[in-house]
Amino acid sequence: MFYSRYTQDEGNAITYSSGLAAAYAALVFLQPKRIAIRGGYHGCHATIDVFKKTRGADVTLIDIDEEFEAGDICWLETPVNPFGDSRDIKYYAEKIHKVGGKLLVDSTFGPPPLQYPFKFGADVVFHSGTKYFGGHSDLLAGVLVVKDIKDWNTLHVDRTYLGSMMGSLEAWLMLRSLKTLHLRVPRQSESATALAQWLYQISVTPAGQQYDGVPGGIVSQVWHSSLQKVDERGFDPKTQMEGGFNATFSFLTASIPQAEQLPHLLHYFVVWSIVFYQPATSLGGVESLIERRLHSDPGADPKLIRLSVGVEEFEDLKNDLRQALQQLAEV
Ligand SMILES: *Cc1c(COP(=O)(O)O)cnc(C)c1O
Ligand SMILES: *[C@@H]1O[C@H](CO)[C@@H](O)[C@H](O)[C@H]1NC(C)=O
Repeated sequence: MFYSRYTQDEGNAITYSSGLAAAYAALVFLQPKRIAIRGGYHGCHATIDVFKKTRGADVTLIDIDEEFEAGDICWLETPVNPFGDSRDIKYYAEKIHKVGGKLLVDSTFGPPPLQYPFKFGADVVFHSGTKYFGGHSDLLAGVLVVKDIKDWNTLHVDRTYLGSMMGSLEAWLMLRSLKTLHLRVPRQSESATALAQWLYQISVTPAGQQYDGVPGGIVSQVWHSSLQKVDERGFDPKTQMEGGFNATFSFLTASIPQAEQLPHLLHYFVVWSIVFYQPATSLGGVESLIERRLHSDPGADPKLIRLSVGVEEFEDLKNDLRQALQQLAEV
């Protein structure tokens, strides 16, 4: 399904054993001298560190808003994990193409049908298939999409000798998942956008007043691309996320104890992975997840909560959050 959408978009997709295996393959393929990147998923930075070992001190990192030069690639995650401002693909595509470099877009948070990075000038599109493509929190996969079949052939040969192809069970699970991608993702996006708007109303309600039964002063900030303002270059995330805004977003509670307690007061949002009894840090699956970000990212604000919205009834999710926020207000 996504393959055919990408085919319309003149892309050729290839799968890998994980998102990070795909990230490594992309680096081997692109052979950058410098990588322009800012923040984003910490695992990709660790993969870049592994790649640097093979090239000595030869590879350096720069910020996406520094001057580019020949030999650079730009690695753009959009929407970006965990806050997810959307970044302007077209702007960075034009900037890197001027020096003859390539733009890779990590579109994990904007899977089809939300966002098609080729339309805005991306050269390589990357997805962690573990998230929305898989959608059931039961497989690892990565995807690269390139426009030129010659590049696809190179990736295909490299993949054989990197040994990073998907196993047959995972491939079978992925084919099952892709049958519902077009149903799951728009639903998740729609519910997440409505929840983000609802939480935003709570965040702007002063202490002492209520919004929809929830006392103000508990949620202090909400990030979502539906709440993002048009920037000074005129970039509006709406034009890039044609199929809806991303279904994973974050907010801050007013205090640290509130952030500690909130995940445990919910019934619909999964907190613990039942298999490993660890915080459920993945995202994109059919069950909604809630995570205190500090558990998986030691650098995160201790009040930061990330929600990955699943396919449950919106009213059930909202009522669940409401009762949990009400309980927090009482303690
Ligand atoms: C999860 C994730 C990855 C890495 O994918 P894995 O399949 O877990 O290896 C890369 N980028 C982003 C934005 C992610 O969320
Ligand atoms: C997308 O997801 C991130 C991840 O937590 C969230 O913080 C952000 O607000 C969302 N971004 C957009 C652009 O909607």
